[in-house]
Amino acid sequence: MNRLLLDVLDGKQTERPPVWLMRQAGRILPQYRAVRSKLRNFKELVKTPDKAAEVTIQPVDELGVDAAILFSDILVIPEAMGLDYELIKNTGPVFTNVVSSKEDIDRLIEGDKAAEKIDYVFETITEVKKRLQDRVPLIGFCGAPWTLFCYMLEGHGSKTFSKARRFLYQYPEESKRLLDMITSSSTAYLNRQLEAGVDTVQIFDSWAGVLGHEMYQEFGLPYIRRILEGLPEGARSIVFAKGAYTSLPELKKLSCTALSFDWMRTADVLSKEVAGTKVIQGNLDPCVLYGSEEVIEAEAHRILKAFHRGHIMNLGHGVYPDTPLEGVRHFVETVKSFRYDSF
Ligand code: CP3
Repeated sequence: MNRLLLDVLDGKQTERPPVWLMRQAGRILPQYRAVRSKLRNFKELVKTPDKAAEVTIQPVDELGVDAAILFSDILVIPEAMGLDYELIKNTGPVFTNVVSSKEDIDRLIEGDKAAEKIDYVFETITEVKKRLQDRVPLIGFCGAPWTLFCYMLEGHGSKTFSKARRFLYQYPEESKRLLDMITSSSTAYLNRQLEAGVDTVQIFDSWAGVLGHEMYQEFGLPYIRRILEGLPEGARSIVFAKGAYTSLPELKKLSCTALSFDWMRTADVLSKEVAGTKVIQGNLDPCVLYGSEEVIEAEAHRILKAFHRGHIMNLGHGVYPDTPLEGVRHFVETVKSFRYDSF
């Protein structure tokens, strides 16, 4: 097996860092669009283990990345808890029912009961492991409670998530109850993913950065902490709290293995701030991949040298759908031909 990702997470020395891309499955690959076009919609793809396994493996075959990430979505948890969403072209996910009162929260289910409804994901994991034949590790994932709360309250994407933030001030106790329910569901869900065979898990807190410092300390971090504490001893985990730099001291104290970063803080500074506490993932602006080969190499090398060992190369957020495939390929090749010893 190509163990680069696992070795870095386990604190072992490697000759180069592993590379994978957030949101690598789908979006940029014509092979993905071909599979997708034969099915009714995105949700059908997620719920058909045979097809979901196929698109999970596509980036490994097509791009040569060092890890596969399960093809699914963070929104399967709100759906299992009792909300329903659709993906609308150019708009993104839209929930047909949202949470707007205490009664709405009372109607949701949580914990194992919610996780049980996502059987298709565990089947996909079994299928992927079988087909990957241990070529590369498989990453499982879930959304962080705060990010899922955002979608469950807002009903769709937003620049400000002001409905979700408003709810925290108007109904702090109800908010905590809902966050507790998302936490118990996500903990059960990740445990089952690990049982089914994923090699590490990543928690996506994509909207961490819309909360002020105190609010993130109260409504964001404690729930991520609780999910991590509910994972089996020794399980590897990555936390991506986008834009949450003011909480870096607390993030460093979480029991996760790695922290994933966006591109807002320069690699030199970040490497000193995080040094010795966690493995670091990411930091490349996804827009670099639209640049020339020289630009891609210069930016990748700057980051590779700054973090040196203990780094997983990745973007600072998901790859954008119209990213040129040649840019992605050149980035992956640049990292794969890099050697720490030559610098
Ligand atoms: O990394 C991977 O490729 C694995 C699969 C994956 C998807 N979504 C598939 C997907 C992962 C890890 C996610 C995570 C996710 N989903 C996040 C957290 C990461 C981030 O980007 O911030 C969030 C916020 C979502 C919610 C979501 N799902 C949005 C906002 C959208 C629509 C816009 C978009 O990004 O495409 C989705 C749909 C979605 N999830 C698609 C895919 C491949 C596109 C579906 C299609 O039209 O085929």
